[in-house]
Amino acid sequence: MAALCSAVGVSLGAVVRFLVPSVFYGPPQSFKIGNPGDFPYGPPTFLADEKIFVFRDRERGFAVASAVCTHLGCTVAYFQNDRDFHCPCHGSVFSPTGAVLHGPAPRPLNWFEITLTRDGQLRVDKDKTVPPTYRLMV
Ligand code: FES
Repeated sequence: MAALCSAVGVSLGAVVRFLVPSVFYGPPQSFKIGNPGDFPYGPPTFLADEKIFVFRDRERGFAVASAVCTHLGCTVAYFQNDRDFHCPCHGSVFSPTGAVLHGPAPRPLNWFEITLTRDGQLRVDKDKTVPPTYRLMV
């Protein structure tokens, strides 16, 4: 009887291990977004799939801001007239540097590291937050 219980226990353990994945997949946090020349100067380019704004400035280079509101995660919009980020869900407003101007957002928007790869493409790493003053000159 003990051998039977042991065999059943081992089998159940194998079934549970098979059903519960040991690796969870999510979108990659580091990804290429294209060549520098793909991005215009002036208002930022919004990449909807990645939920980021890519800024390109002639004198200061590239910067990447998160489009995810720090309140409950809605996607913010960038308004060229005041250069602020506005959240459509509960009215939070963020300054051009991502600082909270009007709540309920509790924290500033994140800014992410942007680098140039060997093949000349821009890479964004959402695991690496940087100060809003961070720039990549290309
Ligand atoms: S999710 Fe942006 S203000 Fe609530």
